[in-house]
Amino acid sequence: MVVVTRNFHLVKLIPSLSHTSRHFSVKSTYHPGDQITVGGRQYPADHMTNITPHILSHLGKNLHLQQYHPLCHILDRIVKYMYSRYLTPRGNPLFSVHSQLHPVVTTQQNFDSLLIPKDHVSRKKSDNFYVNEEQLLRAHTSAHQCELMRMGFDNFLVIGDVYRRDEIDSSHYPVFHQVEGVRLLTKSDVYGKQQDMKEYELFTPEGPPTHHPHVINILKADLKDCLQGLATTLFGRDVEMRWVDAYFPFTHPSWELEVKLNDQWTEMLGCGIIQHQVLLNADVEERVGWAFGLGLERWAMKLYQIPDIRVFWSTDPGFLSQFAFDDPATNVNFKVVSKHTPCINDISFWLPSVSSYEAADFYDIVRSIGGNLVEQVYLVDQFTHPHTSRTSHCYRIVYRHMDRILTQEEVNRVHSRIEQETTTALGVTIR
Ligand code: PHE
Repeated sequence: MVVVTRNFHLVKLIPSLSHTSRHFSVKSTYHPGDQITVGGRQYPADHMTNITPHILSHLGKNLHLQQYHPLCHILDRIVKYMYSRYLTPRGNPLFSVHSQLHPVVTTQQNFDSLLIPKDHVSRKKSDNFYVNEEQLLRAHTSAHQCELMRMGFDNFLVIGDVYRRDEIDSSHYPVFHQVEGVRLLTKSDVYGKQQDMKEYELFTPEGPPTHHPHVINILKADLKDCLQGLATTLFGRDVEMRWVDAYFPFTHPSWELEVKLNDQWTEMLGCGIIQHQVLLNADVEERVGWAFGLGLERWAMKLYQIPDIRVFWSTDPGFLSQFAFDDPATNVNFKVVSKHTPCINDISFWLPSVSSYEAADFYDIVRSIGGNLVEQVYLVDQFTHPHTSRTSHCYRIVYRHMDRILTQEEVNRVHSRIEQETTTALGVTIR
């Protein structure tokens, strides 16, 4: 498999770095047999380990549980909405809330239990932060669906930090927060208490178990009504919305909800009818259900006009003070604390002749060394020399501090560390 080949190259490229500076590691420098501590727990490292210290520094921050944090306000509103929409016969909230599940999950939880094929692109090492071959930082809160269903929960929300190796820009950060909603229904939940339940079925009688069309319609109506209600609760009665067909391996049919804000359609969530096999993987029988997943940062950025996703990690009082109110439904029109001029430095290099180079590894290095000083990094130019056939990439790195002025000297120091690290760790030649 491609992944294995790539790991092999990576492992070969790392030793020079790991021998000289194990404590200053920007790439994962763990060797098979090493222990890695992630979120207070120890795990054996192996050839798949690619978590960096920079990523580790985000664990346990629980922004979604911090009083007066914008993500906490949004979450509060979502939970209240779900509590009031679905009640038990005795008038209590039907949904349980799970907001402190450990972010390390197994590949079984994150992928297999959700029917994500073994060769699916979303499993790639370049897209995830692996603890080792069998465990990773969850890439989505859907990773907890099966364990909670197996425990007997029928209506629940999961909230947590999720981790993805991504390009860096004002709307992408390798850590963000998701809310997952799952609702399971029995035959009598779907059809009501009828005289003779035998006449009503959840699945079509012939062939592999397929949801009865009536069941799909009932679930779809409840799911869409629930999520449209959520969007209007947060964005107001008059907000424009539309449903777009989507694909997720674990739901069918699937949709995305888009909302029109400032004349722009934005995807706000993914959802669908849970595949029967997912329920069987959780040992749940005689039930059908729906699920949705949304990114809290996306909702907060739209609701408060926050232009940059990095701001959620800021501890600057200029940021946090704008959210210091007790009623989570308070309107905020976020004001950028200070907009300092960016410093822009380019980096150009020849790729190594063996094709082991992955842009994701370069982005990791930039992220690890530059941290939150890096606002954007993107490819501006690439070309292959006609005679030597060597390929060169040029990336632009935009440095900007959220809270203060950066000097060019300071940026140059960071930039040259990135150049050095890229040379040693990735085998490129700076031009
Ligand atoms: N887990 C999906 C994602 O991260 C979202 C989703 C959740 C879609 C539940 C369908 C059902 O993109």
